[in-house]
Amino acid sequence: MAKLHIIHGVHAPGFILFFISLQYPLLLLTLSSAYTTPTKHFINCGSSKSMNYTNRVFVGDRSSDSISFTKQSTSTQSSEQLSSVSAIYDTARIFRSPSSRYVLDGIDKGTHIVRLHFFPFASTRNLSKAVFNVSIKGLTLLSNFQMPSSPDSPVVEEFLLSINSTKFVLYFSPQGSSFAFINALEVFLVPDGFIPDSAPNVGISGNSSRNYGGIPSQVSRTVYRVNVGEVEVTRVQDNLWRSWDTDDKYIYVPNAAQTHASFGRRLTYRYDLDIYLAPEPVYLTAKQMSLNFTNATWGFKVSAKAHHLVRVHFCDIISESPNTLQFNLYVYGNFAQYIDPYSNFGFVSPEPFHYDFVVQPGSSGLVNISIGLLSASMYQQAYLNGLEIMEFIGSWESDFVPLEGDNQDKHVGLIIGLVSGSIALCIFVSAVIFVCKHKKPKRTEISAWSPLPAFGGGSSHGELTEQTAHGSAVPNFHLGLKIPLAEIHFATNNFDGKLLIGKGGFGNVYRGTFRDGTKVAVKRSELGSGQGFFEFQTEITILSKIRHRHLVSLIGYCSERSEMILVYEFMEKGTLRDRLYNSDFPYLTWKQRLEVCIGAARGLNYLHKGAAGGIIHRDIKSTNILLDKNYIAKVADFGLSKSGPLDQSQTHVSTGVKGTFGYLDPEYFKTQQLTEKSDVYSFGVVLLEVLCARPAIDPLLPREQANLADWGIACIQNGILEQIVDPRIAGQITLSSLRKYGEVAEKCLQEEDEERPSMGDVLWDLEYALQLQQTAVKREMYDDSATDGSSLLTVPNVRLPSFSTFSVEEEGLGKEGVDSSEMSISGVFSQMKIEEAR
Ligand SMILES: *[C@@H]1O[C@H](CO)[C@@H](O)[C@H](O)[C@H]1NC(C)=O
Ligand SMILES: *[C@@H]1O[C@H](CO)[C@@H](O)[C@H](O)[C@H]1NC(C)=O
Ligand SMILES: *[C@@H]1O[C@H](CO)[C@@H](O)[C@H](O)[C@H]1NC(C)=O
Repeated sequence: MAKLHIIHGVHAPGFILFFISLQYPLLLLTLSSAYTTPTKHFINCGSSKSMNYTNRVFVGDRSSDSISFTKQSTSTQSSEQLSSVSAIYDTARIFRSPSSRYVLDGIDKGTHIVRLHFFPFASTRNLSKAVFNVSIKGLTLLSNFQMPSSPDSPVVEEFLLSINSTKFVLYFSPQGSSFAFINALEVFLVPDGFIPDSAPNVGISGNSSRNYGGIPSQVSRTVYRVNVGEVEVTRVQDNLWRSWDTDDKYIYVPNAAQTHASFGRRLTYRYDLDIYLAPEPVYLTAKQMSLNFTNATWGFKVSAKAHHLVRVHFCDIISESPNTLQFNLYVYGNFAQYIDPYSNFGFVSPEPFHYDFVVQPGSSGLVNISIGLLSASMYQQAYLNGLEIMEFIGSWESDFVPLEGDNQDKHVGLIIGLVSGSIALCIFVSAVIFVCKHKKPKRTEISAWSPLPAFGGGSSHGELTEQTAHGSAVPNFHLGLKIPLAEIHFATNNFDGKLLIGKGGFGNVYRGTFRDGTKVAVKRSELGSGQGFFEFQTEITILSKIRHRHLVSLIGYCSERSEMILVYEFMEKGTLRDRLYNSDFPYLTWKQRLEVCIGAARGLNYLHKGAAGGIIHRDIKSTNILLDKNYIAKVADFGLSKSGPLDQSQTHVSTGVKGTFGYLDPEYFKTQQLTEKSDVYSFGVVLLEVLCARPAIDPLLPREQANLADWGIACIQNGILEQIVDPRIAGQITLSSLRKYGEVAEKCLQEEDEERPSMGDVLWDLEYALQLQQTAVKREMYDDSATDGSSLLTVPNVRLPSFSTFSVEEEGLGKEGVDSSEMSISGVFSQMKIEEAR
């Protein structure tokens, strides 16, 4: 059975040593943090009390540090406490001056939900008489806003807008001699990708071919939010505290569709974001087409002139098995979107998904949404789970610019309302309006990644994924290497367990194939795994700078939706270790082993001395040397690499730096520093591993043999190295080659790091060992007398010169026409050696 291989060796837990942590100095990028449920800004207006409502604390605006309001505003309290509404509606702030406002401080940049709560409770002042505008800079959110005379429930207005400042200002302008009021206010961040950048633009006559772009820069007002399936969903049930209306009043022909509910089923969420897009009850209830109907239509009155973002939610709780349900979604009966959950979104059921459209109702003043059967389909079924309509009301200037004259305002005392129960007379709180001007940060444009022309995405998910609402998720970070998550799902068949080729503390490694046939290894970090976002960025930064024939190439990365995915070239023949021992693979010949060691030495020498310069690998071992389909060795795993020596001031143990027991530079214990020579030491251990085909540490062996480095040195010094050679290749090795090789290993494994050679010297010596082998074999072929069956005895009598003064930086003098990463001195050098050897 073929065994597949991984890019990273899996660390056996007992064999890992964690070293002193150190930050990669070149990386000063902001790290994206996973979205967590917001805990601010929820404001209980006109109150000094914090109150619990819908599982959140609404802080009294009179006691909150992060909110300030116009001084001449007043607060009012309900004269009767209604059991039907929350106590946060028992107080309100009243504004009478024309330029009154709330200023919220400490806002995170990104797309926010802004929710305004109004409830005209009974008090000495008739709140239903209030007529006012609510605006943000340059845009009116509510104009001539007025309450119904005695609503039985609060009126909540919701907006979605992007804030680029740390302050958010809401203006209240009473009409004429009237006043403005508000009971509660919410301003909170939504997850990255909550709103798409663009969506198909649909008019009443059908699809216009162009997408509507720039959606995140629009301010939108929620006009409908409907759970299809007769169940009302309350704010407490929704992760972003949205309420979902029932669909009954919007469906044209009520018996065209029947409610289907599947409570208790477990949903599969593909992206972290998805749990915020709609709550479970929306997905677990649906309406499916009734028998003998071909379509079902819902209609919504909307503003004729405006564009609307229409989001349609689906989750197949209907079908019993995959691939049995396809249908059309219509907008105005003209534009059709073919819905096949399993071809677009994978094979796991039930899995929520959605489509976004920007709809222009025109003269109809309606948004019409239908589900319809495919005309010639065997899958005669269709369903709908939920629907949202948000009206684009304009764009705004989200800079914070303070108004003049804030401090000249007089305190105008007005006490309204009598307190039933607690005596909380209104106290006028002076508000400090922070005067500070913010430069508007530039929007980070993230271009779609498309080095492989076959890529195109196409699903609404694909478009969503390019969002960076925070603007902080790896801004402008190696964009050329960015791969859409959708393509990674495609390549790995949605992280198919069958393609899993490695598993470790960092997460999983999958084998994948892109649309153009490129084979890749996909390393998907798990949240909370040892490898954090920092190592992720380190690896991208280092690998993106490095292209070398003997270093594993990074093909791209993906950081969407809290994923940390690295995509590497696929190494067909797996790890060097698997070609040496503990596997069923055919073993490598001595010549192949020498070539692998030479290749790895080249890669490592390039890390130390090459263009990227001064990179210490720090975890050289036989599982970090991989082989491609032609057995070309490539060094892998730079996530732990860094430039320069360790920072000694950092003494805490961390996963940031790792080494592997058995390969570890003994000098490290004295100096607490890893240097290039530490890599040389580890490489020396690998050389012995390659020669002896046994692990660096084998606890089952007698004590003196357990540590390969110690045992190998002992054998070399006692002149019995040939006794520990892998018996499968012992017959192939010439004594001269073995001697030279043993000499290199011994030098690498010196206790004192100054006594160890550079990787350049190691490379020369290995080349020489290969040459000695080939020369001897050649001789053997022409000299029958030497063929006595023991090639170990056919020793060419060559004096071994020391080349330790040479440097491999002279690699550049290699053959013309060869890419610098492939510069090879082996040809030139080998010829020299042949001359010398003769
Ligand atoms: C409050 O004002 C509204 C609208 O003007 C009016 O319909 C209502 O009767 C008034 N309520 C009271 C208690 O005066
Ligand atoms: C309220 O907004 C409307 C429409 O934008 C505008 O005509 C009106 O003048 C505004 N009223 C006040 C008091 O600002
Ligand atoms: C829906 O069905 C009605 C008749 O049942 C038909 O007139 C209408 O064209 C259909 N709409 C679509 C989008 O197929």
